[in-house]
Amino acid sequence: MPHKKILVVHYSQSGQLDNAIKCCIAPLLNDKRILVTDLNLKPLEPFPFPWNLLDFLNVFPESVYCDKIPLEPFGIDKNEKFDLIILAYQVWFLSPSLPVSSFLQSAEAKMWLKNKPVITFIACRNMWLTAQEKMKRLITKNGGVLSDNIVLVDAGNAIETFITTPRWLLTGKKEKFWFFKEAGISKSDMQKSARFGQAMSNALKNDLEKSKKPLLKGLGAVNVNEKLIMSEKIGHRSFLVWGKILKKIGKKENKIRRIFLFIYLLFLVSMIITIVPLTLFLRKLFYPLMKKRLKKQKAYYEEPSGSENFKENNA
Ligand SMILES: Cc1cc2nc3c(=O)[nH]c(=O)nc-3n(C[C@H](O)[C@H](O)[C@H](O)COP(=O)(O)O)c2cc1C
Repeated sequence: MPHKKILVVHYSQSGQLDNAIKCCIAPLLNDKRILVTDLNLKPLEPFPFPWNLLDFLNVFPESVYCDKIPLEPFGIDKNEKFDLIILAYQVWFLSPSLPVSSFLQSAEAKMWLKNKPVITFIACRNMWLTAQEKMKRLITKNGGVLSDNIVLVDAGNAIETFITTPRWLLTGKKEKFWFFKEAGISKSDMQKSARFGQAMSNALKNDLEKSKKPLLKGLGAVNVNEKLIMSEKIGHRSFLVWGKILKKIGKKENKIRRIFLFIYLLFLVSMIITIVPLTLFLRKLFYPLMKKRLKKQKAYYEEPSGSENFKENNA
């Protein structure tokens, strides 16, 4: 008879996030004392993969504002009580992907998350800070308590993934080419994420989840790239402005909105090739003055699990 029940909520288009979370929870699935309930989110109107450019851009305003989209019924008893909830999500335009943010606005999420420890598991390119801030708010709104956050990011550096990630999302081509690495998260990072599942299994054995305190400290669950903090904040501010304008123009089928989306695309690309290098340059120039603040922000965004990995080799 299992004594602990875990709900794992996930949504993936290419299967990357599904594979990553599978590696992570493998130790939990092998533990007879734990019953894992799988909730694979399915939007009523599926999103395309690979994306065409217009659909890709068109999902931006609603993603940024976390608008609720209809999902297929979950098929799990609303009154089910879980000991721990794992929310696995990818980032869309510096926000949680629409299926996941919509799940967190459902009546079921309210029932399942209330007073429960929640672990978020992110698999994305490399910019997830504001998305996680939105997730924190949605989790708190449901009465849940964020106990840990695990983040896996794409293997290449920011310049490489600026090419390889869109290429993958817009063509489905993931393999390495020229001097670029394969797009997405490395297989070794995925496999190594089993250490988190192992730590969860050990913690559940000792009822540690009941404290709602971090279970994954010392395992290098998250590592904030200080260099991206400023770009992400500036980018998100502009997303809010453009998102509002585009939503005001009309729904995603609206022709004028489509024209504005292409103007927005030009803005987005010029912003990425100017603001990101500019903020990196400014950061370098003013680093001695900003060092303390950036360190504080890095520590804040790395909560609750932290980036230390003193246990990683023993896990
Ligand atoms: C519409 C869209 C927007 C995205 N925006 C971001 C982003 O802001 N930051 C980021 O790190 N990754 C971003 N990504 C990459 C995803 O987080 C993720 O790595 C990729 O879509 C693969 O996820 P999958 O498991 O659903 O296939 C975006 C992907 C899509 C489809």
